[in-house]
Amino acid sequence: MTIGQTLKHLNRSLRVPFNRKSAFEKLADFHSHPFSMDKLVDWAMKFPSSGYMKVRSSQVRSEIMSLAKAVAEINPRRILEIGTAEGGTLLIWANLASEKVISCDILEPGVKKTLYEAFPPPASKCVVKNLTGDSHTKTFLEKVETELAGEKVDFLFIDGDHTEVGVEADYNDYQHLVRSGGIIAFHDIVEKQAIPENQVYYFWKRLKDKADTEEFINDSKQTGYGIGIVRVP
Ligand SMILES: C[S@@+](CC[C@H](N)C(=O)[O-])C[C@H]1O[C@@H](n2cnc3c(N)ncnc32)[C@H](O)[C@@H]1O
Repeated sequence: MTIGQTLKHLNRSLRVPFNRKSAFEKLADFHSHPFSMDKLVDWAMKFPSSGYMKVRSSQVRSEIMSLAKAVAEINPRRILEIGTAEGGTLLIWANLASEKVISCDILEPGVKKTLYEAFPPPASKCVVKNLTGDSHTKTFLEKVETELAGEKVDFLFIDGDHTEVGVEADYNDYQHLVRSGGIIAFHDIVEKQAIPENQVYYFWKRLKDKADTEEFINDSKQTGYGIGIVRVP
């Protein structure tokens, strides 16, 4: 770490108690208003918190809105997400699922863990569980299975490793956990991508005609983004 980075980290660390208090107040304010899918999606993309309590999602609004509506329509009880990042999409799932959201990332949720756990509305029985580890390892899959205790999820969001082999491995390794009639979604399915590591398109291209699929793509010429869903038979 450079001196500049160390000072930035120190500064952000010192501000955690204030940022945490503010984030919980904002969340309480969010929950005090009647549920609105518009507001939920807006807050998931840019929650009014900052520093190490920052919650964000890099999504195209119309695409994540279509996905959120498709997920809401199947009245999800349990949701599994691979790729928590800054917790943006987790906010959506935690407000749609009635029992449990398991959100996985190779990185620790850090100081935001308790905020994530408070994401479901106060009257909801939904429990948020953050699991840390590499989705491609057997031990991590077992951790997820243990957390589900034999139950299946209604919705699986694959938004972790974006390499072609990575996304295919997540699909093959976790699809058995989704109930019949459930949904599996992939992010970043468009061909044109800003970074070469985003290779979801190549897996999606092979999968999309073999299954009951639908695409949410805002603009066919866009670079990056795009969501593909598979309806599980
Ligand atoms: C694009 S971000 C997820 C964004 C998030 N779903 C949202 O839209 O708010 C991808 C995340 O997947 C995580 N990730 C990448 N490879 C992973 C792996 N093999 N296992 C678990 N998490 C992984 C990264 O650390 C990163 O935080």
